[in-house]
Amino acid sequence: MTLPTTIPGRAGELLASLGDRGVLCDLYDEVGSEVYHDMAGRDPQEVRELLGLVRATPGPVLDLAAGSGRLTMPLLALGREVTALDLSEHMLALLRTRLGLASAALRERCTVVRGDMSAFALARRFSVIVLGTTSISLLDERGRAGLYEAVRAHLEPGGRFLLTTVAVDPAYTGPAEMEEEYTTDSGRTYRIFEYWATGDAARTVTIFPADAGAASDPVEVCTTRVGVLSADRLEAELAAAGFTIRGRTVLPAVSRRLGDVLLETEVRA
Ligand SMILES: C[S@@+](CC[C@H](N)C(=O)[O-])C[C@H]1O[C@@H](n2cnc3c(N)ncnc32)[C@H](O)[C@@H]1O
Repeated sequence: MTLPTTIPGRAGELLASLGDRGVLCDLYDEVGSEVYHDMAGRDPQEVRELLGLVRATPGPVLDLAAGSGRLTMPLLALGREVTALDLSEHMLALLRTRLGLASAALRERCTVVRGDMSAFALARRFSVIVLGTTSISLLDERGRAGLYEAVRAHLEPGGRFLLTTVAVDPAYTGPAEMEEEYTTDSGRTYRIFEYWATGDAARTVTIFPADAGAASDPVEVCTTRVGVLSADRLEAELAAAGFTIRGRTVLPAVSRRLGDVLLETEVRA
């Protein structure tokens, strides 16, 4: 994962104003994964909706881009056997720590795999494959083609591929940059900047601690660049890759401007 050379908007100005104190990190690296994990309770709606669909299809589940387990842990709590796959060893380390604190019965049903969701071969099939948190937007077109192929190869007949993407509002004419403060359950407060000019292929999310500490302290600033992949385009890609769309649900917006869309799909017979 490479860091962007420039951060747009007020976030970029704020980072520049920190001078040498500002330490830019990727949101899924050693520092960033702790921040991501701390903030992971921000969107409970998506977890509820995904779990509702998973319940309808019994059997083992593959959680792609599982991260620190925001979906993996509740999937395990449903009593399912879950394989959690992610590219970031730092995110998986957080997941392993969480599993270590869970009951043995739950832990033993989880297999943790470091892998690339655009090219994986697990030599087995699953009833359900989930890809939440609009993480498909982290892949470019080629990566998505690889993902669709790998998902097809890993789904049981009649299985479901459940994924979310962003709900783009083409009529949005407001400012390109949104800022919000969010206080996590651990009590830490972050300033979250999201920069997306309508029509841009990607948005930049940059997260600062609200409290920059003493004047000499380094300030860790986490960033990630995420594609904006509309549900229409995603549906068209999935259809071309041999999937049937069984359901499309619009979820309430987390960032006020870009909501989530949950797609329920299966491989066309
Ligand atoms: C937005 S986080 C989502 C994590 C988790 N699903 C959740 O709900 O909190 C995106 C995750 O995708 C992972 N990731 C990025 N590119 C990936 C790839 N090509 N293959 C697998 N995981 C990837 C990152 O390491 C990160 O953990």
